Amino acid sequence: MKFFIDSADLKELKDLASTGMVDGVTTNPSLIAKSGRDMIEVIGEICAIVDGPVSAEVTATDHATMLAEGRKLAGIARNVAVKVPLTPDGLKTCRVLADEGTQVNVTLCFSPAQAILAAKAGAAFVSPFVGRLDDIGTDGMQLIADIVEIYDAYPAIRTEVLVASVRHPIHVVAAAKLGAHVATLPPNVLRQMYQHPLTDKGLAAFLADWQKTGQSILG
Ligand code: G3P
Repeated sequence: MKFFIDSADLKELKDLASTGMVDGVTTNPSLIAKSGRDMIEVIGEICAIVDGPVSAEVTATDHATMLAEGRKLAGIARNVAVKVPLTPDGLKTCRVLADEGTQVNVTLCFSPAQAILAAKAGAAFVSPFVGRLDDIGTDGMQLIADIVEIYDAYPAIRTEVLVASVRHPIHVVAAAKLGAHVATLPPNVLRQMYQHPLTDKGLAAFLADWQKTGQSILG
């Protein structure tokens, strides 16, 4: 399973990239606003830190302007994946950009029917939002199961399931069990995944015993 980081915070991204766990980055207009940075600049800087796909989202809602924005974003760096919303204009834009060789991430997917359309439009990634579905009292992970099942039934589909709106490590584990290709993690979720109290307790006991030996591996 690939891990993308859902953030436009350069400091966080540099720190997490050094862990070797980061395969890409996703941003959205809310995350760019939170960064307080110029979008074109910050996407360029993120692309220089991370080799994998960096999603940059269009903000227009009509096809012609989305396409112009998408082409501009794709020109920032070779690893930009243009993110478009799952609307008729968004999918029309996806088709054109995909045919031009640009990776497209279709975002704001909330149903299996929408995911079928994203695959038909040639999306490199479809982003179902699990946390926001959970928030309204539905089972976000069932959507992942449905999309994975549908895509698996058609080997010609190349679209990767990118689990978004992830809120905790249990989302990541559940998505991995279903065989989702990618999860985009808020920085705190990746950090939480390392944690287990028995790891801390076990390490403390090993180190206490080691100290009693008076030895040092490096001499
Ligand atoms: O980038 C899209 C997605 O991950 C947003 O997550 O937490 O705002 O629902 P959230």
